[in-house]
Amino acid sequence: MRIVLVGPPGAGKGTQAAFLAKNLSIPHISTGDLFRANISQQTELGKLAKSYMDAGNLVPDEVTIGMAKDRMEKPDAENGFLLDGFPRNVSQAEALDEMLQSESMKLDAVLDLEVPEEEVVKRIAGRRICRRDSSHVFHVTYSRPKTEGVCDACGGELYQRDDDSEDTVRKRLEVYHTQTEPIIDYYKTQGLVVTISALGKVEEVTARAMEALQRDE
Ligand code: AP5
Ligand code: ZN
Repeated sequence: MRIVLVGPPGAGKGTQAAFLAKNLSIPHISTGDLFRANISQQTELGKLAKSYMDAGNLVPDEVTIGMAKDRMEKPDAENGFLLDGFPRNVSQAEALDEMLQSESMKLDAVLDLEVPEEEVVKRIAGRRICRRDSSHVFHVTYSRPKTEGVCDACGGELYQRDDDSEDTVRKRLEVYHTQTEPIIDYYKTQGLVVTISALGKVEEVTARAMEALQRDE
């Protein structure tokens, strides 16, 4: 299956993607995680991306589309993938369509996670991620690690993301409404959008998502 996950910052895309990718045996491809890996390895791409991310803005399409394409061309993504955080505007969605069409492939579904803004703010304020692997995500109240400040998965140190400050979160939400939400209409015209509520326990949301994807098949 080829799936796009969409939803506001803090909706739980990364959290759900980890479970869905495992259940569906497809790789989880997160452009945010790819940028964060570049930042921690101090690559040129990482330095460029950090300046945009810390301000809550989108990293320019020229670099983002190339990076996403390189990742989707890896052998593990041959039979499907779960995209998290890409595409994030209509021109990225058009670029993805072109990429897939040139290989005679298509998307199966766009899973839209709906969460009220006040919940998103609570989720982001308490989020802690792992320094070794930013796909290891916790929450100080909702998803507590066994030992405070230590990643259950790998023992890495947990920290708060630089772009999770209040001002940057406000900017990220604005960017989501103006630039990312339009892709939902773009995909609705292709009949691909499946919307679910992302409220409730993590495992309840995963079950809802799996059910919605299977219903959509
Ligand atoms: P990215 O990393 O994609 O961030 P985002 O879209 O803002 O999403 P988040 O990672 O903040 O949230 P999430 O939905 O994954 O939530 P999570 O699972 O962590 O992008 C960051 C930046 O990179 C962008 O601002 C941009 O600059 C750049 N970028 C990335 N892709 C780009 C692109 N394509 N083009 C241009 N620029 C790009 O959950 C949040 C918290 O809630 C966690 O603490 C979690 O434990 C908790 N939680 C999750 N589910 C539940 C639940 N059901 N109940 C209670 N708590 C929950
Ligand atoms: Zn870890």
